[in-house]
Amino acid sequence: MFEKLEMAPADPILGLTEAFNNDCNPAKINLGVGVYKDETGITPVMNSVHKAEQIILDTEKSKGYLPIPGSPDYGKVVRELLFGAADAYPAATAHTPGGTGALRVAAQFLKKFYPDATVWISDPTWPNHNGIFGDAGFTVDKYTYYNAQERSLNFEGMLASIQNMAAGDIILLHACCHNPSGIDPTTEQWKQITQVVNEKKLLPLVDFAYQGLGRGLDEDAEGLRILAAAVDEMVICSSFSKNFGLYRERVGAITLKGGSKEIIDKAFSNLKTIIRRIYSNPPSHGGAIVVTIMNDAALRAEWEKEVAQIRDRIAEMRTLFVDTLKAKGAQQDFSFLTTQYGMFSFSGLNPEQVKTLKEKHSIYIVGSGRINVAGMTRANMDALCTAVAEVL
Ligand code: LMR
Repeated sequence: MFEKLEMAPADPILGLTEAFNNDCNPAKINLGVGVYKDETGITPVMNSVHKAEQIILDTEKSKGYLPIPGSPDYGKVVRELLFGAADAYPAATAHTPGGTGALRVAAQFLKKFYPDATVWISDPTWPNHNGIFGDAGFTVDKYTYYNAQERSLNFEGMLASIQNMAAGDIILLHACCHNPSGIDPTTEQWKQITQVVNEKKLLPLVDFAYQGLGRGLDEDAEGLRILAAAVDEMVICSSFSKNFGLYRERVGAITLKGGSKEIIDKAFSNLKTIIRRIYSNPPSHGGAIVVTIMNDAALRAEWEKEVAQIRDRIAEMRTLFVDTLKAKGAQQDFSFLTTQYGMFSFSGLNPEQVKTLKEKHSIYIVGSGRINVAGMTRANMDALCTAVAEVL
């Protein structure tokens, strides 16, 4: 049977990492996949994570299975990060293998019970959103988000799109650090989005992968908290790949918020059935790291400081990139980059320029022109900007 299959296209993001790894040029630069690099160009293990792992190594007593949704302590710390308090709302959380795992579980759960809903994703969005919800059998449609001319949020267009959605449809929102544009709604805009989502009786599904990398841990949860305070039901998919640097440990979560404890108990029992059929129960280690850090005042303070360092370094690289490009004589104004949040920005580089950067300079950028600012360092900035100025 397999001989009938055609080659699948490479993943637009992870496929780029494969190509980067195979590139022998020592000066190669990867601005593709959303992975943080420090000033020395490596993706470090955070000190707080190292210390938590040591504690786990010294105290772990068993490798028995975790419950289907993972440890209850994990659920509590996830909801504390989301809502500011673990018991703010009737809600339940399951530990999933990464944010992708959370989205996949969400897709399967929602498709089983709301098969006729359309899933609305922002235009543009993380390419995997389309695949995850499409594979689950959903009709996936796009809502207006990005204004390419102004390099801003097309808020009027976004609201108009939402007005066109049908009651019971699912709207996928990025809580912060929009991937790929780096453009987030303001507080006022979040309030308006919330109002329309409520009026139209939509189910918000919030993808929260970059908490702490934009403006701050609480600040980045602002939009989500505005929504949570006003809507009865929502689904939140979290990832701790970026803010705990736990990429390969696959640490994510799905949280259901509902109108009452009874409703949530029933919904969550069904979610557990879905999980049981996909991966039974989650891997322990990464979640244990998050719990150990969050429940230890000193480790938590150290982690918060480390997240702030990541955030500050990204902001610094944004400014340095804009200034260096200017110094290299680039005619185009890139100052819009400094008003965006998180790892990503839409550079405005077109597919031809992206191709030249890769083939001629071993600089890897996603085909859409999305750049990962966290892949820039003081050491690679000059070569990077020389090459970008050349292709402009
Ligand atoms: C990204 O968008 O680059 C990250 O979320 C990593 C991934 O899995 O694509």
